[in-house]
Amino acid sequence: MNLRSPHLLGIEPLASEEITLILDTAESLAQISQREIKKVPTLRGRTVVNFFVEPSTRTRSSFEIAEKRLSADSLNFSPGASSLVKGETLADTARNLEAMAPDFIVIRHSEPGAPHMLARICRCSVINAGDGAHEHPTQALLDAYTIRQKKGRIAGLRVAIVGDILHSRVVRSNIFLLRKMGAEVVLSGPPTLIPQGIERLGVKVEGRIEAALEGVDVIMMLRVQLERQTRGYFPSLREYFRLYGLTAPRVRLARPDAIIMHPGPINRGVEIDSEVADGPWSVILEQVTNGVAVRMAVLYLLSGGAGGGAEEEIRNPEA
Ligand code: CP
Repeated sequence: MNLRSPHLLGIEPLASEEITLILDTAESLAQISQREIKKVPTLRGRTVVNFFVEPSTRTRSSFEIAEKRLSADSLNFSPGASSLVKGETLADTARNLEAMAPDFIVIRHSEPGAPHMLARICRCSVINAGDGAHEHPTQALLDAYTIRQKKGRIAGLRVAIVGDILHSRVVRSNIFLLRKMGAEVVLSGPPTLIPQGIERLGVKVEGRIEAALEGVDVIMMLRVQLERQTRGYFPSLREYFRLYGLTAPRVRLARPDAIIMHPGPINRGVEIDSEVADGPWSVILEQVTNGVAVRMAVLYLLSGGAGGGAEEEIRNPEA
């Protein structure tokens, strides 16, 4: 089995079997990062353009590391030093990059649908690394990998997602993934930051964070996206923390073995207390570690990996 599409544009179009395939493949590839020589020749001769038009620390770095571990050649596109600043359109920039025959374009863009537009005009595989408030599929996949690693399963778990739901691409991808994989999802946040009708995606909404956290297996906190706040969605950051910040007493409302996740970057003292972010429940840095294996798996599978004979190369770095 392999992925049905040559692109990864979102979680919404994926079947649950495809999600499981990506997670299983990531599990095999994770061992490469434990070796002394963290490199296999699987994508030797393939070229990846990392086309990040919005800032990123985790996603961009882990795609770059994943590409290097698979021996791909990477080009890191810097929008500030490109002809985008001279008014070249995204489509023309993409056509020009495509003319140099890359195998993959990994794109992060502030406009929802930008990766889909590239997929229509480019012959290479396009991977969505976050498009506006639409989707962030590799984040949801690494979150799912981390949940499966910690809990042994996803089906049947109760997951609370708390914070700025309105502006979050992470929450949309996670809702699609968690519901497809059989988890129960409850959302909480200020009413102004909860999109109307979100329940249609099969989730429950609780106004009070305490009600949302009651008995859950997983707490996923979302960053307050201060840069996307176009009006006053809540009175102050202090008020936000008082009503929705994750503190140790609130964590104790969840199951005793609950894990705490956050896609990063975290706003300490706004959506999460440092005691919680750095405490024993937190798997935030493990999420970052797992991002490398998950992005390796996505690149590998989109390159035609499954059943293509590369499994042997992964097992044997000398192959
Ligand atoms: N989680 C995430 O997308 O982080 P970056 O913006 O740093 O890539």
